[in-house]
Amino acid sequence: MLLRIFAALLLMLFSVSAMAGSKPHVVILATGGTIAGEAPDNTQTTGYKAGALGVEALINAVPEAKKYADISGEQVANIGSENMTSDVTLRLSRRVNQLLARDDVNGVVITHGTDTLDETPYLLNLTVKSDKPVVFTAAMRPSTAISADGPMNLLEAVQIAASPSSRDRGVLMVMNDRIGSARFTRKTNTTALDTFKAPEQGYLGQIAGGRIYWENRIEKKHTKNSVFDDRNLKVLPQVVIIQGYQDDPAYMFDAAIEHHAQGIIYVGTGNGSASTRIEAAMRKAEKAGIIVVRSSRTGSGIVTMSDSLPGLAADSLSPDKARILLALALTKTHRPDTIQKYFHQY
Ligand code: SIN
Repeated sequence: MLLRIFAALLLMLFSVSAMAGSKPHVVILATGGTIAGEAPDNTQTTGYKAGALGVEALINAVPEAKKYADISGEQVANIGSENMTSDVTLRLSRRVNQLLARDDVNGVVITHGTDTLDETPYLLNLTVKSDKPVVFTAAMRPSTAISADGPMNLLEAVQIAASPSSRDRGVLMVMNDRIGSARFTRKTNTTALDTFKAPEQGYLGQIAGGRIYWENRIEKKHTKNSVFDDRNLKVLPQVVIIQGYQDDPAYMFDAAIEHHAQGIIYVGTGNGSASTRIEAAMRKAEKAGIIVVRSSRTGSGIVTMSDSLPGLAADSLSPDKARILLALALTKTHRPDTIQKYFHQY
């Protein structure tokens, strides 16, 4: 009898301690941006200093996040995202891979500036080897502003990173109650809060009344199904973006050749079209061993393969995201047919 009571007590003790430790563990990696920005005046929403607050201050501003997860934080960088470079983003990717390989980490949130938020999440969408949630968040108003958007965005990002329902959806971007895919979501407005959109594909889901509503899944390959990885990669191969417009000069291609670019994303008009002058410049770059990819300046739609123009087609990738994919593709191969396949798959 005594033995049975002892066993029951032991079981109770075990269940209580299991419940106490039952919250998911989410790690917040801070990189700077407006979400960590400060201005001298609470009405100031431009011209402030981005990347002023550290990760502990960001976490302390949202004690409510502890409802969803046990949280720890690390400072990876503290910069405006216009200063983000691939040595930092690849270091970030490696850290995310290390953390997610641990049994005691359930998800990662990354705070980042909005200006290049089109790029870093897409890089990690291709280099993170885990189906655990990776959630980027940011803010358009500095932490000191009236109605700063950072704290609610961070709270929702933690909630999403802590939820098992967020697994295997690729890298996510969360702002303004909307959950976007890193593959499609872009900054579409210079100052508005609801700037991150995927005009053709829409959002993957949203948060309302404190609840996560999933609505779509991404079809493109990502994370653990991606062939790309960050191991042994200190910086990305040099891929430049050349903007197309009436009168655009061919010498931009000569500059790319001269500076040993490995790839060129040409931002063509319409369906990635180019003048006869640029067509000749593209052929010259290809002859010099550079992979040229045609994208579009329209902001949405698919760039299709051309029977007449040289170069590969960016599919539905924006020029910024196409640069990331081409750079990673060049770490694997220089075969145009394989690279074109990547553009359709990723
Ligand atoms: C930045 O991108 O770091 C500054 C702008 C912002 O975060 O909104």
